Amino acid sequence: MKRRPVIAGNWKMNKLQDEGKELVNNVMSGLKEYDKDKLPEVVIAPVFTCLYAANKALTDCGCGRVKLAAQNCYYEKSGAYTGEVSVEMLKDAGCEYIIIGHSERRQYFAETDEMVNKKAKAILSAGLIPIICCGETLEQREANETDRHIASQIKNALKDLTSEEVSKSIIAYEPIWAIGTGKTCDAVEANRVISMIRDTVREASDATAADNIRILYGGSVKPETIKEQMAQSDIDGALVGGASLKAESFVQIVEGAM
Ligand code: 13P
Repeated sequence: MKRRPVIAGNWKMNKLQDEGKELVNNVMSGLKEYDKDKLPEVVIAPVFTCLYAANKALTDCGCGRVKLAAQNCYYEKSGAYTGEVSVEMLKDAGCEYIIIGHSERRQYFAETDEMVNKKAKAILSAGLIPIICCGETLEQREANETDRHIASQIKNALKDLTSEEVSKSIIAYEPIWAIGTGKTCDAVEANRVISMIRDTVREASDATAADNIRILYGGSVKPETIKEQMAQSDIDGALVGGASLKAESFVQIVEGAM
């Protein structure tokens, strides 16, 4: 089973519009020399206020090498939900992917497994792709609770989705202790957890979904770590935070995944 790799950049709460536009343009010019068919799926997730500028830069270029994602959404279609943005609105802004269940949203904004599941359903019904994040804290890892915790996050996130929907989805395994710390999870261990996630998907859905779903690693991914990560049997790409804020390092990570 050959799954197309995905390299996604999560900008988090960074960049003003001009800075965002410059970063998108620099990423595109860095990728220009590569044959489009050989590139992994390259996705960037700017902050909401940069989506318009980013989408414009991407469509003006028309090279189709980079796709747009949002970092969050709300699952209702419209209405009295002050401060929220619906899937349809994000689709309208040019997004094809939406990150959900990021540990920062779970930690600071009380996003629950149930909300992640509702968001996944709303995203898939609109024809977009959810990037579902999961991951354990250091305390959970030290208490040997990693696998149980992640399997439960995944089962809850995928509840009532069809095999076809799960097949299209993307999961990102991001150990919380590796996010923004410079401490990358050992590639062999990340691959072990990701294989366990694939087994969980097989159980929760079916074998086709488990073979098709792309599962990424995230947490201090750098140009120096990507090759070893991509060489693992089950790691299908990366969700990159800090290193996606500079075109040079992001493009190097994309290159490392080819
Ligand atoms: P860092 O790459 O900065 O560790 O962030 C990872 C992450 O949270 C991506 O979603």
